[in-house]
Amino acid sequence: MTTQRRAKITALGRYVPPRIVTNYDLAQMVDTTHEWIVERTGIHQRHWVEKGTPTSELGAKAAAELLKHRGIEADEIELIIVATVTPDMFFPSTACVIQNKIRATKAWGFDISAACSSFLYALTTAAQFIESGHHKKVMVVGADVMTSILNMEDRATMVLFGDGAGAVMLEPCEEGEEDLGILDYYHEIDGSGGDHLYMPGGGSLNPSSHDTVDRKMHFIHQNGQAIFKFAVRKMEELSTRMLEKHNMTGADLGLFIAHQANMRIIDATANKIGLDQSKVIKNIHKYGNTTAATIPLAIGDAIDEGKLKKGDLVLFAAVGAGFTSGSVLARWAY
Ligand SMILES: CC(C)(COP(=O)(O)OP(=O)(O)OC[C@H]1O[C@@H](n2cnc3c(N)ncnc32)[C@H](O)[C@@H]1OP(=O)(O)O)[C@@H](O)C(=O)NCCC(=O)NCCS
Repeated sequence: MTTQRRAKITALGRYVPPRIVTNYDLAQMVDTTHEWIVERTGIHQRHWVEKGTPTSELGAKAAAELLKHRGIEADEIELIIVATVTPDMFFPSTACVIQNKIRATKAWGFDISAACSSFLYALTTAAQFIESGHHKKVMVVGADVMTSILNMEDRATMVLFGDGAGAVMLEPCEEGEEDLGILDYYHEIDGSGGDHLYMPGGGSLNPSSHDTVDRKMHFIHQNGQAIFKFAVRKMEELSTRMLEKHNMTGADLGLFIAHQANMRIIDATANKIGLDQSKVIKNIHKYGNTTAATIPLAIGDAIDEGKLKKGDLVLFAAVGAGFTSGSVLARWAY
């Protein structure tokens, strides 16, 4: 017998590697400047792993902090969903690797691949397992080692990304908490945008070979302007759609937490939905784009800054490679 309850986030864990790389450091590596990067992206610095550090290591550290904050043991986790575009390897899944590292001996799990939208896709997926009544503790990890797929000679992409991880625990709302938790979601994919941001090598289409490596197919390839235009349009569209569906405007929101890809994308969306800057969480200046980790890292900053309190209405939005996109509406529950 299962009981249907809405899912709520009950704890957060984060991890970024200690090595900070500034724009000035990058200007020693490629033809760029601190000023260009700040003006076009809002990024001042990012955290990069030491070479060879896998995504699972970051994810496991975020998971360990999450368990500490929640005050539970790893074997209480029933399901692990890992959002990542840089899994340790194709298989086994990074969920399996993290499960083993943290000794979550009673969990099952899997990875979700949706690039910069993957944390929200994973959150939505996890919420279904809680709402169905099948699970009471689902961990969502968003983790990426973007430096593992960056072409360090390509100034147009290498300045944008950072490494990091975040994890949240989803649990059922208690009785009397009916208005809290994850209220709604909306996601899309549009595969026609696939060749604007992709990593062509290493899969079944272009199995790794000397040739694919010589042609740098194991790195991110990006059409920055096409991504930028799509992201600005889609993030605003999905945010507005969610607000209108719930008869709300930006003024009803306590906080807007968007995927951190570019300061100008976040600002354009916030302006269009009429949001006061004080309600917009931005941390891209210190982390860059950490792909699956941006939203949990931003949740952490919102908590640190005292901007996220129980009962606050939060709109999450993300757009990424695929194209993938989505928005999630939640009422913060702790
Ligand atoms: C990548 C991005 C910052 C580039 O900004 P932009 O204003 O579109 O710049 P453009 O691509 O038009 O390039 C303008 C010029 O800057 C140059 N440039 C690119 N990267 C540079 C860098 N790091 N430093 C200095 N100049 C750079 C380009 O070569 C180009 O020079 P040209 O005019 O001589 O050809 C922007 O397109 C962007 O953020 N796109 C979205 C990327 C993204 O979010 N990806 C993740 C998806 S979730």
